[in-house]
Amino acid sequence: STLKLQTNYLKSYIQQDELLLLNESVKSIHDDMHNKSSIGNEFLGWLDYPLENHESPIEEMLEIAKEVRNNAKVFVVIGIGGSYLGSKAIQDALSPYFPVDDTFPEVIYAGQNLSGRYLNQLLQFLQYKDVYINVISKSGTTTEPAIAFRILRKYMEEKYGEKANERIIVTTDSEKGALRELANEKGYRSFIIEETIGGRYSVFTPAGLLPLAVQGYDIQALMSGAKKAAIDLQANDIFTNQAYRYAATRQLLLSKGYEVEVLASFEPALKNLHEWWKQLFGESEGKGHDGIFPAAVSFSTDLHSIGQYIQDGKRFLFETLLHFHEVEEDCEVPYDSQNKDQLNYLSDKTLNTINDIATQGTAMAHVEGGVPVISIEVERLDEYHLGYLMFFFMKACAMSAYLQGVNPFDQPGVEAYKSKMFELLGKNIKIVK
Ligand code: PA5
Repeated sequence: STLKLQTNYLKSYIQQDELLLLNESVKSIHDDMHNKSSIGNEFLGWLDYPLENHESPIEEMLEIAKEVRNNAKVFVVIGIGGSYLGSKAIQDALSPYFPVDDTFPEVIYAGQNLSGRYLNQLLQFLQYKDVYINVISKSGTTTEPAIAFRILRKYMEEKYGEKANERIIVTTDSEKGALRELANEKGYRSFIIEETIGGRYSVFTPAGLLPLAVQGYDIQALMSGAKKAAIDLQANDIFTNQAYRYAATRQLLLSKGYEVEVLASFEPALKNLHEWWKQLFGESEGKGHDGIFPAAVSFSTDLHSIGQYIQDGKRFLFETLLHFHEVEEDCEVPYDSQNKDQLNYLSDKTLNTINDIATQGTAMAHVEGGVPVISIEVERLDEYHLGYLMFFFMKACAMSAYLQGVNPFDQPGVEAYKSKMFELLGKNIKIVK
């Protein structure tokens, strides 16, 4: 099957009847969510988005992707949070570990930090290369990407003059925000993030799709995967809907004192998928001094560092193992007649087989060590299955936050640092030159 949620390792932590008790709440939350009457209902646009027809913006994105390929070596994506994590996650999951050729423009992200060093080096890196920019901000007013865009816009105008406007593509709200105004004034081409879709639920909108199209990823397959998930996950109960079972299981574990969820996978390319997942769950659930803290590890690397803590530290964490069955490439362990390294016992196996066995062994050891382990098995690592998985997580996250009793779609806590920073920077004090 496309995705399988395994809970066999949870037997000593969660009983069926405990799950059953949550089923009534799940059903009524499901109804409210699908009738658009739950809290935060103005941000439920993502729920049916993959089922709707997006042919025309997708075609336009594929056209622009071709144009960028013909006219640029670098595509700079400016955005923060949900405006970049989705495309970055998929890009990293699917791109080769070592660059193969330069058929596709290099995609570089900016506007997620305030490092002067980063932007200065980026400007130098861009100097002799042809560039396109995609600035993504739903609100159009987020400080970090706005600063990066001001700097890069000046750079583009100095480099290309009037023609700079043809090389800047905006992804933002259809009407509101400074970025929309700027796009209208300068005549930038633009794509829309629907008003009803918040940043961390926007990977299937042009915010996620355009950067992926530029790199030649199959965005139609990604959307088909999401669509299949939207169809498969329409049941209203824990036993048929795996996203809801994952959600209910997480909340039960939280109620039993397991306050940290560690997402773990055995393919290093998935690190940024972990980052996307951390944002999705952390920003949706970390509210009212409650919620599961989402953490992530990349194995085997982290088995030799933080793995010690998982096995043997404070017992307040549970682990969600993410495993993709088919990964396109593999490597064999060669037979060695001398066998000085004593590895001949592995010489009939490939690395991916050994990695699969390491996954099982790790799960068994962690369960024995007192860590509840959930496992999510996905059939293949490709666009279609990533689309399926990411929609699965989105639906699970909304249900889980509602079960916890919070609005999954706001992020009031993000404002606190901003107001302190603005105060310190003297925002709203007019600078007259
Ligand atoms: O999930 C969210 O809503 C946030 O993480 C936003 O994506 C992030 O703050 C960026 O916002 P914007 O796209 O308005 O610049």
